[in-house]
Amino acid sequence: MDNGNKKRHSFGSGFRTFAAAALVICISSTSALASEGGAELEHTGNDVDNIQSLQRGARNFMNYCSGCHSAQYVRYNSVARDLELTEDQIANNLMFNADNTFETIVSSMRIEDARRWFGQQPPDMSLIARAKGTDYVYNFLKGFYIDPDSPTGVDNRVLEGTSMPHVLWQLQGYQHANFVETPVGDEGITKTEFAGFEYLTEGTMSAEDFDGFVRDTANFLEYIAEPERSTRRKVGVWVIIFLFVFLAIAIMLKKEYWKDVN
Ligand code: HEC
Repeated sequence: MDNGNKKRHSFGSGFRTFAAAALVICISSTSALASEGGAELEHTGNDVDNIQSLQRGARNFMNYCSGCHSAQYVRYNSVARDLELTEDQIANNLMFNADNTFETIVSSMRIEDARRWFGQQPPDMSLIARAKGTDYVYNFLKGFYIDPDSPTGVDNRVLEGTSMPHVLWQLQGYQHANFVETPVGDEGITKTEFAGFEYLTEGTMSAEDFDGFVRDTANFLEYIAEPERSTRRKVGVWVIIFLFVFLAIAIMLKKEYWKDVN
């Protein structure tokens, strides 16, 4: 009987070690994500369940981004289904570079031209919001500022030295970035910190409307990076229920087996 108690105890502590390890892994992976990239990011406040925002984002992406960026894992007909658009609406308003709605979003730019113009191929946008974070994309699109030393005439607050031009300049206008030197410790070492933007020229949109435009675009990129999100959430609930049922069965089985050992 004593022995049995010990065994039960070791099962409990093993489980506790496993739970603690799982917790540590979860915490360390989220903090790694949060600490990625130096610049402080403003929150997007986007909502991937807002279909109207996604429709506007799709329009923005196709009009302002797809000339350079592909989204090679995204099919037009899936976008139509998820964004509650008819295939005709998609074909007439969003498909500039495809004949059939089952095609994926490819960019019209040739790779050689992209290399010559930008030194590299603009990255595919299918997974960018997952790779870098939606807040990052939002801040990147809002973060272009005048830099006369850069070949494109602009630099970016969150991706220093970027080769992407300020493609939304007509909407946003041009801004100047202020930086301040703040001391680190006592040894006269300083670090450069971003201290806000100032408008140099106004764009066709107000700052508020431009934020909305960029939020919708980032929202669309978040949706395409994980189009099955809502289905997966529903499946996830069933998986967890199954795991609990299975756990109960496993505990009952364990009791049954150990009964004979004792
Ligand atoms: C004129 C071509 C061009 C257009 C149009 C364009 N981009 Fe880019 N984009 C680039 C290039 C080139 C890069 C690679 C920049 C780099 O790594 O420095 C890039 C990089 C990016 C990145 C990745 C940044 C990173 O951290 O790696 C994002 C996100 C992005 N673009 C979003 C957009 C969105 C959204 C639009 C539409 C509003 C857009 N781009 C329009 C050329 C373009």
